[in-house]
Amino acid sequence: MNKIRACIFDLDGVIVDTAKYHYLAWKRLANELGFDFTEEDNERLKGVSRMRSLEILLEIGGKELTAADMEKSAAKKNEWYVEYIEKLEPEEILPGVSAFLTELRGKGIKTALGSASKNAPLILERLKLNSYFDAVIDGTKVSNAKPDPEVFLKGAQELGIEPESCIVFEDAQAGIDAARNGNMFCVGVGAPENLNGWDHLIPGFANVTFEEIVNKLKLVNLK
Ligand code: BG6
Ligand code: MG
Repeated sequence: MNKIRACIFDLDGVIVDTAKYHYLAWKRLANELGFDFTEEDNERLKGVSRMRSLEILLEIGGKELTAADMEKSAAKKNEWYVEYIEKLEPEEILPGVSAFLTELRGKGIKTALGSASKNAPLILERLKLNSYFDAVIDGTKVSNAKPDPEVFLKGAQELGIEPESCIVFEDAQAGIDAARNGNMFCVGVGAPENLNGWDHLIPGFANVTFEEIVNKLKLVNLK
C-alpha cells in the first residue's frame, strides 16, 4: 500500500450539515412553484450540482421551465441558501472534524477540499476552517460533476501528491465513485445501507483518528 500523504474532504455532509439549509431553500422554491418537497426527496440532491438538483426538483413536481426561468429559479434558491449559510457558526462543524484536521496538521498530512458547491469558500470562512486546507477546489473550478474524478484529481494536483497516496472522505455515492474513478482510497461517511464501494466506512468523525483509518486501509489492501 502506498504511503498516505494527503486527505481530500467533501464539504456538505462531511464537514458540516448544510443539507438542511439546501432543503429549506429548495422547499421554498418548490412551494412557490406550487408543489411540495419532502426531506426524503432532498436525499436525492446530496452531492448533486445546483442545476442538476433543480432538474430533479422539477421532475418531482412535474413542472417544466424554460432555460431562462431555470437560471432565475436556481439563482433565487441560492440567494435563500446563502442567507442561511451567512449565519453559520464554527459550532456547526460536525463532531470530531476539527480534532481530525488538527491531527493531520500535526502529522504533516496535506489537506484539500473537493466540493461541488460554489459556496464552499463562504462556508469555510464562516466555519473559520480556511487555515486547515492547503487547497480548495470548489464548484467554480471544475467542469465535470462527480462521479467524474476531476474535483479530487485537481485537489491532488494542487497539493503535488499522486492520487494513489490520497484518501477521499465522502458522504454521497457519486463522490465515492469519483474517488474510485480517480484511483484514490475512499472512506465513506454515513450508513452502510446508503453507500457502496468504499474502502472503509465511518458514521462520522467523532472519536475517529487518522492512524486508525490508515491501519484499516492497510488491512483491506492486504486481502
Ligand atoms: C454539494 C451538495 O456539495 O454541492 C449539493 O451536496 C449541492 O446538495 C451542491 O447542490 C452545489 O452546491 P451550491 O452551493 O453550489 O449550490
Ligand atoms: Mg457531500
